[in-house]
Amino acid sequence: MGYSKSVYDRADRILNERRLDAEKKADRVRNAFYEKYPRAKEIENELSHTFTGIARAMLSGQGESIEEIKNKNLALQHELQEIYKAAGVSEESLGPRYVCSRCSDKGAVDGVTCECYKKLIKQIACDDLNRRSPLSLSSFEGFDLSYYPEDFRRKMGNILNYCIQYAKSFDRDSDSIVMTGKTGLGKTHLALSIANEVIKGGHGVIYISAPEMVSALEEQQFNRDSARPDITLDILSSCDLLIIDDLGTEFSTSFSKSAVYNVFNSRISRGVPTIISTNLDLAGLENSYTDRFVSRVTGYCKIMYFDGNDIRLLKKLKS
Ligand SMILES: Nc1ncnc2c1ncn2[C@@H]1O[C@H](COP(=O)(O)OP(=O)(O)OP(=O)(O)O)[C@@H](O)[C@H]1O
Ligand SMILES: [Mg+2]
Ligand SMILES: [Zn+2]
Repeated sequence: MGYSKSVYDRADRILNERRLDAEKKADRVRNAFYEKYPRAKEIENELSHTFTGIARAMLSGQGESIEEIKNKNLALQHELQEIYKAAGVSEESLGPRYVCSRCSDKGAVDGVTCECYKKLIKQIACDDLNRRSPLSLSSFEGFDLSYYPEDFRRKMGNILNYCIQYAKSFDRDSDSIVMTGKTGLGKTHLALSIANEVIKGGHGVIYISAPEMVSALEEQQFNRDSARPDITLDILSSCDLLIIDDLGTEFSTSFSKSAVYNVFNSRISRGVPTIISTNLDLAGLENSYTDRFVSRVTGYCKIMYFDGNDIRLLKKLKS
């Protein structure tokens, strides 16, 4: 996977912290339990000695017989279970509660990378990428339907509800969306509102403008020192949700057209959703991009038409 070393370092640190945290908490719980039930601690000590007892008995043939040790062991275990029962706890509830029970927050099981680690890597890489974007600025609550002309308000209400539902029930199988319409009609506002909710749900979201995306990919392609080495085709293609804002405002070249197509198409092939916001209508998209791209967009995306008067302007006039 094409993530930088610092992403892996941070993921390792987070896992370490999770593990230590769970173990420290478990120690505290266990110590409190021992304080109340000191006999439990004694039994555990004795149990841990029975193994050395068995080894000794086997080697020397002296001391207690293996049979005796086994019986003692069983009796001790039984007594311990009784204490647990009386205290209303289980052996597990006294142990560490890891965030991921599969790998005990180690990041791997039998040498195979755990899903939790992959998820963490993706989230860190996405957080990195989003640090510069205005993600926190928009929310569904701040979206006001009264800015739209009356005859369009109902349609806009449907779009808003769709977006709220979309964000709520988001998963990697969710639809792709194209938001199209003139400037200042709330496309970015709604896309960012979706992003915020989906991020809260623990998914890896990247929000990026088309010019920024294209120029980062171009710099990498031509081996120049990239200002944004974190924006790789790999992460753009694999994050849970990619939001490409202002499609059509990038400098149009054959590279930009194929970059946009490649990102979109590799996401379609992986079955992961993309949200595109653009001022271009279908005819505009056809003029600006390859037929292959437009046919993918119309074939795979829900298209939302935004209409009305420039809300950026309306807000300015009001203030
Ligand atoms: N329905 C709305 N209620 C409240 N504020 C809104 C609404 N729609 C847009 N705005 C605000 O108006 C401004 C412009 O909206 P936004 O950036 O979403 O437009 P856009 O459709 O993405 O425009 P462009 O095509 O120029 O990118 C933003 O500050 C946004 O928060
Ligand atoms: Mg916009
Ligand atoms: Zn795990």
